[in-house]
Amino acid sequence: MKISKVICGVLASAMVLAFAGCGKSEKTTLVMATNAEFPPYEYRDGDKIVGIDAEIAKAVADDMGLELVIEDMAFDSIIAAVQSGKADIGVAGMTVSEDRLASVNFSDPYTTAAQVVIVKEGSAIASPADLTGKKVGVQLGTTGDIYAGDIEDASVERFNKGFEAVQSLLQDKIDAVIIDREPAKVFISENEGLIILDEEYTIEDYAIAISKDNTELLEKVNASLAKLKESGRLQEIIDKYITAE
Ligand code: ARG
Repeated sequence: MKISKVICGVLASAMVLAFAGCGKSEKTTLVMATNAEFPPYEYRDGDKIVGIDAEIAKAVADDMGLELVIEDMAFDSIIAAVQSGKADIGVAGMTVSEDRLASVNFSDPYTTAAQVVIVKEGSAIASPADLTGKKVGVQLGTTGDIYAGDIEDASVERFNKGFEAVQSLLQDKIDAVIIDREPAKVFISENEGLIILDEEYTIEDYAIAISKDNTELLEKVNASLAKLKESGRLQEIIDKYITAE
């Protein structure tokens, strides 16, 4: 075959492909809703949102051939953003719960987590059972918020950011904070005089929230997550941010 003929053939197929590409409006982005107040899962580093969830979502998007776009919002707006299609996925250290499963689907879990109790050093509160009748701070709309509501005679103070609850504890305005373990570890390392109680409040799973209308996306995300688990990449991302004790 003459070389010019080969070139022609290649050009022709390239054009066909190019036109095919023009025809359909292929989705190119994967929009992630999060609340970047939750180190080490999502937080701001300068004007960038970084952390375990940001990296897992990026890896999932890469695997799907999509560009990740991160939308930062209040934690209690994430489910609505996913339901309305404003975001494709909610990745925010979000605990799989029965309540939330009524509104969205969850991917397979990507990690286990726990709710813990932060108190001031020397506090009389030594275990979760001692929270009865106390002032307990939580981040609005989190599972910590829900659990605190079940504590007998406790008054629950809800903050927009977990860190604001910790600040309030430092100022003795509240007696304890219920929050996820890894952010708790970050917050106590940044502030003196705080401890995490040995006994955790609950163990939970984190997963990616996806609209109930988009089961195709759910399957794709699960397939990507499975690959990330299989290849060891998922653990690598977690290990980058969480040092094993
Ligand atoms: N795991 C808790 C929940 O699902 C707290 C998550 C808070 N996440 C955040 N990015 N602020 O309710």
